[in-house]
Amino acid sequence: MPGIERTLSIVKPDGVEKGVIGDVLTRFERAGLKIVAARMVQLSVSEAGGFYTVHRERPFYGELKEYMASGPILVLVLEGENAVTMTREIMGATDPREAAPGTIRADHAESIERNVVHGSDSPESAAFEIPYFFPEIEVYSY
Ligand code: CMP
Repeated sequence: MPGIERTLSIVKPDGVEKGVIGDVLTRFERAGLKIVAARMVQLSVSEAGGFYTVHRERPFYGELKEYMASGPILVLVLEGENAVTMTREIMGATDPREAAPGTIRADHAESIERNVVHGSDSPESAAFEIPYFFPEIEVYSY
């Protein structure tokens, strides 16, 4: 279907800890995105590093890996029209101080690291991130 995309989203350890999984899922579903895969997992530091390998040269990489491995996360595949952009709009800017009012990060995030959710930043990133967690057979088509 033209325009239909998939993107990877994660409710990060702070989002799970704060009890906002339901709120995050509701916002995605209300926007018309379908949850086509979901899994709760606690990553090892090295698994978190593999996921964020694109940031391996950045000064925050070490802390980011540790943080993402610090508790359970909910990993999701979302499907819908312009799913990558749509998900990023619903989440708001990476830094919650810059996130538009009414977005997930404006409402729930406390810092750039503890920013509640992740979403693929492009279809190319989604093409790497989705199979990092889900084999094709675990992503539903309905
Ligand atoms: P995310 O969208 O998951 O992608 C990379 C993550 O690195 C980002 O959200 C932030 O939570 C985290 N991060 C930590 N420090 C920084 C920083 N200074 N700039 C950008 N991202 C950062």
